[in-house]
Amino acid sequence: MEFTKSRRAFEEAKKVIPGGVNSPVRALKAVGCDPVFISRAKGAWLYDIDGNQFIDYIGSWGPMIVGHAHPDVVAALEEVISLGTSFGAPTELETMLAQMVLEAFPSMDKVRMVNSGTEATMSAIRLARAYTDRDLIVKMEGCYHGHADSLLIKAGSGATTLGVPTSPGVPQDFARNTISVPYNDLEILRQVFAERGEEIAAVILEPIPGNMGVVLPKEGYLTGLRELTKEYGALLIFDEVITGFRVAYGGAQELYGIDPDITCLGKIIGGGLPVGAYGGKEEIMAQVAPEGPVYQAGTLSGNPLAMAAGIATLRLLKNPGVYDHLWLMGKRLEDGIKQNLAELEIPAYFNRCGSMFTLFFTDKEVYDYQTALSSNTELYAKYFSGMLKEGIYLAPSQFEAGFISLAHTESEIDQTIEANYKVLYELKLKKDI
Ligand SMILES: Cc1ncc(COP(=O)(O)O)c(C=O)c1O
Repeated sequence: MEFTKSRRAFEEAKKVIPGGVNSPVRALKAVGCDPVFISRAKGAWLYDIDGNQFIDYIGSWGPMIVGHAHPDVVAALEEVISLGTSFGAPTELETMLAQMVLEAFPSMDKVRMVNSGTEATMSAIRLARAYTDRDLIVKMEGCYHGHADSLLIKAGSGATTLGVPTSPGVPQDFARNTISVPYNDLEILRQVFAERGEEIAAVILEPIPGNMGVVLPKEGYLTGLRELTKEYGALLIFDEVITGFRVAYGGAQELYGIDPDITCLGKIIGGGLPVGAYGGKEEIMAQVAPEGPVYQAGTLSGNPLAMAAGIATLRLLKNPGVYDHLWLMGKRLEDGIKQNLAELEIPAYFNRCGSMFTLFFTDKEVYDYQTALSSNTELYAKYFSGMLKEGIYLAPSQFEAGFISLAHTESEIDQTIEANYKVLYELKLKKDI
């Protein structure tokens, strides 16, 4: 497989864009590769500028759940595009998408559209602080909520100490207001609440994290979180930017039967166009401007193209059998890969929730960030690069999720399993494993 044109395009891009990309993960640095420049995509397939084609397991990092360039989404966009692309005034499309979101997520009485997941979580945090009149936020180590200052925080030296910024430019003062704790550990969280419960505005988490690779909540963890936050009058914020409409139509909260106070959405609800949203209980959302005093705004929020693509995508997801297909394809992939691993006697851990998955190269069970870190990232890099050459485009980091779409059929899944066997077999021959 040749990547000559991509290499040239990358050189050009680096002259005008920091690192040559508009979002760091696209640079493929974590796996030691250069980025592949894409020319188009259709269904489950990506096509690059060198004429290579790949089965896509990134799906634009989650949004493309119905497959790329789905005819219904394209038609919806074509219908609205000639009517004008932004008005700075309300449209009925915004109400329509809001109604669909609220119908899917009974925990929300009202929802506000924004332009990205980052905006959604950032606004949700401001709202939670205003509503509770408290400043402290608790987040989980390894969960990613976008790049707002309050959330670019990792754990300090002790499990219950204050966080430290993960990026230069985030003031220590912001870090003072965020506590980072391990995911899946209720005991530590109980300790944090016992010490500072009266100061905590909210706990924010990905209910099923995808940003340390896929990790599943232990039994009782989410319920325990719900009870604990209620006990101390702190809000529970579910960041369902990935899991919303992914693991079930009503997201992780439907799957696990949890009623969070605020939910953040993004990705799928924009059908591949820039979108985010946050919503929650009536009395909390009543604080948001112009109904209430908590300021939050956006020139392009509720953009008609994004709304139309989102509505078309959600309509497709309401078709019967849609989630059965996604879960079935997920299971087929998991079974095939696990069988390969067993045959080749390779220790690895496969975590999956429906159509989101991660293969961790570790012999330990992965249930939080520290256990995810036990993975062999060098081996993952070689595996990624081997799979890419076989025409399979996986997440370019050990600590990211893979995504299956409705356009993935048994044929694509089986092709992936075959490539997986070949790549792992060759890595074993070379004694890389
Ligand atoms: C769970 C989660 N929350 C928030 C975000 C931020 O969304 P965006 O990249 O649209 O700002 C992401 C992005 O991947 C995410 O995975």
